[in-house]
Amino acid sequence: MKHLLNSLLLFLGLSWPIMGAHAAKTPDGARLYAQHCAACHGADGRGGVGVPLALPDFQAVASDDYFRTTIRMGRPGRVMPAFPQLSDAEIDAIIRHIRSWNPDVRPPRYDRTRIEGNPEHGRELYAKHCARCHGEHAQGGHGTGVTFSRPRELPIIAPALNNRGFLAAAPDAMIRETLRRGRSGTPMVSFLKQGLSEQDIDDIVAFIRSLEKEAARKARAREHGETPAILVEESSYGLEETVENVKAAIIGKNFRLIRVQYLEDGFFPPDQVNRRQVIVYFCNFNFLYDALAIDPRVGLFLPCRVTVVEREDGTVLVMSINPTRLSAVFNNEQLDEACDQMRQTYQEILEEATL
Ligand code: HEC
Ligand code: HEC
Repeated sequence: MKHLLNSLLLFLGLSWPIMGAHAAKTPDGARLYAQHCAACHGADGRGGVGVPLALPDFQAVASDDYFRTTIRMGRPGRVMPAFPQLSDAEIDAIIRHIRSWNPDVRPPRYDRTRIEGNPEHGRELYAKHCARCHGEHAQGGHGTGVTFSRPRELPIIAPALNNRGFLAAAPDAMIRETLRRGRSGTPMVSFLKQGLSEQDIDDIVAFIRSLEKEAARKARAREHGETPAILVEESSYGLEETVENVKAAIIGKNFRLIRVQYLEDGFFPPDQVNRRQVIVYFCNFNFLYDALAIDPRVGLFLPCRVTVVEREDGTVLVMSINPTRLSAVFNNEQLDEACDQMRQTYQEILEEATL
């Protein structure tokens, strides 16, 4: 599994902890940024799969501590990974590099004083002014980042505000400052200019803070939600019949059969290929389109496939990857939901083919 992860991440230009650079004497922030962040946030911080980091209005409200906590914890379920493997010195070097894009912006400092506000009133204001972009439950907008040519609701995705990583990183004062000031160059406007009062803004901050408990519960559920890497069923039929059953079950579920081949095709001369191991490839183009729109990286494990293997003792096994488990690599809650549906479909195909 680790090997698979490495290949996936390498493909994306990212790196897994064990392959990461070992702390140099003076970490090179530009190199570390290029290695760990640029694939998503863009080489110059203008955004990509991730939101822009170079915006002056963002850097003016984001403290160095905000960056540190965000990089350490990531945003569980929102694509932004956690980076536990980087040293403190490496993280600080990355932050210095990001800051170098805006030499005139003075990084703010905040304390963690709670802002007094009425969360119930904040909830009403949130529903009226924020939910259409940040989601009804503050779960964030759909799609990815900025520049992918995929369907998106906004030119820049609205971050999740009910997220444990965000809430841990952002003190109340920073959230307040963001609402007062807005971020020019993004759909996020100043809500003072929109006519909200200082008290209204504090009430919204209190509401956002009240989402913390639920965020912690959800993040824990993600961490403990381990599922098996592959789905396996033993067939009550022989190999040929099982393969036919798999094909029928796939078509019955509205998938297109792409091809059927021996597992070893291409690896050995044709007369030496093991004919007791068969792969069935299939696809549902609607699902494919939807999944790619959620996260283009799913292209790495498509099209769908089921493997049918006859063992030495004559028993026949039908297997597939578990999409739910693969999805976990991508840290994308929306993708988790789609992959969980996919897992159910796979499970049904396996059961129909073997029972
Ligand atoms: C028109 C869509 C839109 C509306 C309405 C909107 N936002 Fe935003 N918001 C965004 C976008 C897009 C960003 C990301 C900007 C960026 O890339 O820096 C954002 C950023 C933020 C951030 C910073 C999050 C982070 O991770 O840095 C906060 C906090 C926030 N919005 C809160 C609110 C609240 C509270 C409201 C309602 C009062 C609101 N927003 C209304 C689109 C919107
Ligand atoms: C796999 C893609 C990916 C990688 C790699 C990645 N990020 Fe992110 N990052 C995101 C996404 C997506 C978001 C927005 C989260 C949301 O929508 O809720 C984000 C959000 C952030 C934020 C919060 C921005 C804001 O407006 O408040 C910071 C800061 C950040 N990332 C820094 C980094 C740094 C530094 C690195 C490298 C060490 C990095 N990220 C690597 C995808 C990524």
